[in-house]
Amino acid sequence: MNAAAGERPGTVDGGAVRRVLDAEVERARAARPDGRPRVVDVGGGSGSWAVPLAAAGCAVTVVDVSPNALAALERRAREAEVHALVTPVQGDADQLPEVVADLIDSGGADLVLGHGLLEVVDDPARAAASLAAVAAPGAAVSVLASSRNAAVLWHVLAGRLEEARAVLTDPDGRYGPEDTLRRRLDGPTVTALLEGTRRLRVELVQGDGLLEAWLPHAVRDGGPTALRGAAELEDLAAGVPALREVAARLHVLARALAP
Ligand SMILES: C[S@@+](CC[C@H](N)C(=O)[O-])C[C@H]1O[C@@H](n2cnc3c(N)ncnc32)[C@H](O)[C@@H]1O
Repeated sequence: MNAAAGERPGTVDGGAVRRVLDAEVERARAARPDGRPRVVDVGGGSGSWAVPLAAAGCAVTVVDVSPNALAALERRAREAEVHALVTPVQGDADQLPEVVADLIDSGGADLVLGHGLLEVVDDPARAAASLAAVAAPGAAVSVLASSRNAAVLWHVLAGRLEEARAVLTDPDGRYGPEDTLRRRLDGPTVTALLEGTRRLRVELVQGDGLLEAWLPHAVRDGGPTALRGAAELEDLAAGVPALREVAARLHVLARALAP
């Protein structure tokens, strides 16, 4: 993936997620010397992960319920001149095995992404089962999910103690009816969802966006050197168990078992 992969406005990109995905792409390339690594990005939206993966030479199928997101994906893929490698498919994560039946019939995907997905779907266990169903044996399933623990601390930092209490005590980690997310998760919950499919074994849990809430504006606006220092710190902290749980997002990588 190119250097811009995974960058989002207002975030400090430590690159830990990107590096893990890069390694999976290389692994798939080695296993499939006569073809492109096959990626399925479920809830891939406008392609912030899919387009860099296509630029890295992967054939990427993006499944998303939103036609608007898929239109934005097509524009982005065209601008990056990788549209020939990106296949947008309108469909629901719940119906994934039917939506990408051809791909499953031909052996499954080498890498499956569910980034920002489990917190928005109706049934996260069903979505996890869909991710597992499309992964070839030995393939990686990469999940990024909004962290409940981080949200508690953000609300405290902002002085919104009622919301912090709601996120902490609500079964789904929501702060109220106007919350746009269906749920927030923690590392053990994501692990249980993925391993509960009985087709996946979790290999890695790390934090993504650890510094987002804590970095003072002076550092954020302090130019490339300050941001580089922050990114290095983010990298070092991504795998520390106590810190990853308060990162904005949890990144979990699971491996598909042989059937
Ligand atoms: C938070 S965005 C994440 C976009 C992208 N994966 C990323 O990490 O930047 C969630 C995406 O999931 C899509 N989505 C929501 N429910 C879905 C479902 N049931 N099946 C497939 N996609 C869904 C939304 O349309 C949206 O594009």
